[in-house]
Amino acid sequence: MKEALENLEREALSEIGKAADKDEFLAIRTRYLGRKGLLTGLLRKLKEVPPDERPLLGELSNRIKERIAGAIDAALEEREARSRTERLRQDALDVTLPGRTVQFGTLHPVTQTTAEICSIFAKLGFSAVEGPEVELDYYNFEALNIPKDHPARDMQDTFYIAGDTVLRTHTSPVQVRTMEQQRPPVRILSPGKVYRPDSDVSHTPMFHQVEGLMVDRDVTFADLKGVLQYFLHYMFGADRPLRFRPSFFPFTEPSAEVDIQCVMCGGRGCRVCGHSGWIEILGCGMVDPAVYSNVQYDPEEFSGFAFGLGVERIAMLTLGISDIRLFFENDRRFLAQF
Ligand code: DAH
Repeated sequence: MKEALENLEREALSEIGKAADKDEFLAIRTRYLGRKGLLTGLLRKLKEVPPDERPLLGELSNRIKERIAGAIDAALEEREARSRTERLRQDALDVTLPGRTVQFGTLHPVTQTTAEICSIFAKLGFSAVEGPEVELDYYNFEALNIPKDHPARDMQDTFYIAGDTVLRTHTSPVQVRTMEQQRPPVRILSPGKVYRPDSDVSHTPMFHQVEGLMVDRDVTFADLKGVLQYFLHYMFGADRPLRFRPSFFPFTEPSAEVDIQCVMCGGRGCRVCGHSGWIEILGCGMVDPAVYSNVQYDPEEFSGFAFGLGVERIAMLTLGISDIRLFFENDRRFLAQF
């Protein structure tokens, strides 16, 4: 009997030593120590041994029972501790690794250039206003003294939406909308998208313009020159030569175009300036009395000037970009450079 008990203990401990997981430990416990287990089975035979040996064997079996239970508990605990350590090791965070850098976007070069233009004119008291891109023929043409069937319409090819609705071909209609709403003094700048059916290295069907308008008492062509010179010298450098060239626009009289000395060749002549040494940068003029009559301004009382410039053209010159289409391909390798 004693031997049988000791064998049972040895076997139980050896099985505990080999067990792999919690379920196996629990199975061993049931098999040896359970109510129908092996130890209980052995103890039932206790009544077959002589009475004087019983106390010792009873005591031995109790100790064996405790040792087996203790071994199982210890093994379970050790297993639990080991898996906790393993979990911690796997979840470990190496705080000394370099962080992942956040990729910042950049403002589009056209947006940046528009903002720069607006901020220069803001110093002179011009505030920015916006107008609709889908525009009535009246504001885009008629009110700007460009009647139907007049050759001036051919200056700007037009996307028609419906009979009297167009995609605006320039930002000049905002002049009229502004003067309809407001009495002089007027000093506004209007940036925005414009549309013309053109497409090559220097034209895209959508591009950006900034329109300017200043109307007050006693505004003269000298004011126009002063304001535009201030702007262009800010934008292209104070020593950049400028020239005002007589021109024609239906909504201004007299009209002019302003050229800056070519920023690429410094005036010697190159491909960019068509070997002239000059680059046309904007159109301008004194607002034509015909336009005032459409907004009930008295041309005897008020005078003013207007100008319009292309944002992509200026961005290409200041940022050194040679193909206008690059602005609209949305290639991050291009955009991230600005
Ligand atoms: N609207 C003209 C264009 O798109 C540019 C322009 C010329 C605007 C003279 C003006 C101006 O306000 O006075 O070509």
